Parts: sequence; structure tokens; C-alpha cells
Amino acid sequence: MSFNLHNRSLLALKDFTPDEIRYLLDLSAELKRAKAAGNEVPRLKGKNIALIFEKPSTRTRCAFEVAVHDQGGHVTCLDSGSSQLGHKESLKDTARVLGRYYDGIEYRGFHQSVVEELALYAKVPVWNGLTDEMHPTQILADLLTMQEFGEKPLHELSFCYLGDASFNMGSSLLVGGTQMGMDVRICSPADLQPPAELVAQMRELALTTGARITLETDPIKAVAGADFLYTDVWVSMGQDDAVWQQRIDKLLPYQVTTVLMQATGKPRARFMHCLPAFHNLETEVGREVHEKYGLSEIEVTDEVFESEASIVFTQAENRMHTIKAVLVATLG
Ligand code: CP
Ligand code: NVA
Repeated sequence: MSFNLHNRSLLALKDFTPDEIRYLLDLSAELKRAKAAGNEVPRLKGKNIALIFEKPSTRTRCAFEVAVHDQGGHVTCLDSGSSQLGHKESLKDTARVLGRYYDGIEYRGFHQSVVEELALYAKVPVWNGLTDEMHPTQILADLLTMQEFGEKPLHELSFCYLGDASFNMGSSLLVGGTQMGMDVRICSPADLQPPAELVAQMRELALTTGARITLETDPIKAVAGADFLYTDVWVSMGQDDAVWQQRIDKLLPYQVTTVLMQATGKPRARFMHCLPAFHNLETEVGREVHEKYGLSEIEVTDEVFESEASIVFTQAENRMHTIKAVLVATLG
């Protein structure tokens, strides 16, 4: 089935219906096949796209750039260091300028209200490339990846997200999993759960999508029977480094280890992470945390990260195919 998503923004996954998300996933799979076969049809010829990053990025930026390039369009990257944005010009004014030049705008920054304001004033489609609250393009890639590895329809699959569930990844996975009617487990200390209002909204939505939502504090209970274990960093971009000590104290029992993978009871359980990940001492932050707190791997052990069960690089690849689908559907 085809859906008309032309001119739509993607600010949060809940802007789209479950059928529209399924359509985007089908389109992503089709575009992935076409790229591999070398017969991709460029549907963004003549389109100009602005990419704004107020926080760092590797995957999101490169996925947008490659997707636009593959589809015959052009991109401009802006950040607060190399533009007037934030220092000399408000977002509202920047939005009204960029909306005159560009056919669509990607935005990564802090508050969700900012990306909403951008969409209001730019009057062209705006895609959320991560805010403190939501990371919708990541979830599309995650759903495609679970579909590929799960060998069953999404509504027959379960995943358990472990760690800091109070920020963008916990909330967005809760939304995406609920929309797809999945068995959604969120496992974190009680004070790091997703916002209560969002949980209530998702419980309501689950009545129509058939999703099963479990909020659990005990990792061993939470992962039993899960097809996928998912984690993210314990301190996110924009959060104060001073919280590391308390996060480590609280979240160490939620570290994804081989023992936890085995506690799923599923020999084919897979490990997922949006990346970047702290699984060894090969990063500056990883070494700092090691020096200060003595931990040499953080949210996931190196053993799990490097294991056969880890599908993190397919997830990363799928960022590009799913972002391409969003661009084609909303602009092409
Ligand atoms: N997963 C993700 O958004 O990665 P980047 O921060 O590198 O864009
Ligand atoms: N929660 C992480 C996600 C990175 C993709 C962050 O916001 O830094």
C-alpha cells in the first residue's frame, strides 16, 4: 500500500500512524535493495536540503548526506560555530530564511520545542535528527533492523531497552515499539524511566496496536524471553559530566553483559545500540571514565559488543536507508 507523506515533517515518530511507519520501512527495504542492485532511481533531483547540527554527529549527518547524494539532491551543513544561528540570529529568523532556500531541513539540537518551532516557521518539511526528547530517524533504522534479524513480523517480536530510559532513546523506542504492536520492555532504575505522561499515552495507544508495555527495574526479569537487548550511553550529549558518578552507581546492574544476553533464554537474542558506544578504552571519554571511576567498559561489555549477537553496524547502515526513505516520501 502507498501513502502520501508529501510535505510532512518528522518531528517525533508519533506524528506518523503505524501504517505510515510500515510504509516507510517497506520503502527503506526497497531503497536498500535498489542501492545494492545498482538500480536506484534518483527522486530528489533539484532538491536542496539543509542539515543543522547543534550537537555532534557521525551517523546522522553522514546518513543524510549520502542519502541525499544517492538520490540526486544537494546538502548544506550548518552548525552554531559556522553560522549566525543562536549567536546573532534567532532560530525563528533562521527558519524563515532557510525555508526560502531549501526544500527541507534536518535539525539536531537540544529541546523538542526548538525543532517544533523550526517546522512552524520554515514552512518546509523538517526532520528531527535528535533532540533531548526524541530520536525518530534512529528508531526507523532500529525497526528495520529488528524486522531484518527477527525473522517474524515486528508485532511478534520483543525488545528490552536497558539503562538511562529518561532521555531520547528510551522515549523514542517506547513510542516506536508501541506503534508497531511489539512486546516493549523498558528496564531502568525507577528514577530513570521515560516521562510518566509519555508512558500513559503509550499505554493508551497500546490498546489499539496490541503492544505489551513493561516497565521493570530488575534486568534479569526484564530480559527473559526478549529477542533484542538494546542500550545507549549513560550520559547523553548535553548532559552534565558531573552526573557520571551517580549514573555509574545506578546503572552498573543494567550493563549489557554475556550473562544478561544468556538470561534472555534465547540463543539467537541480538544486541543493539544506537552508537556511539563505550565498550573499551579506545575513546577519550572511555579513558576519562576509566581514570576517574575505574570502569573499562560502560553500558555494554566489549565481549557482547564484538560478539556474533551484535547487530550494531547493520543498525548504523540502516540509518541511511531509512533516512533516504523519509526524504523520498516527504520530498520526492
Ligand atoms: N546514532 C546516532 O545518532 O549517531 P550520531 O550521533 O553519530 O549521529
Ligand atoms: N542518548 C544519546 C543518543 C546518541 C545517538 C545522546 O543523546 O547523546
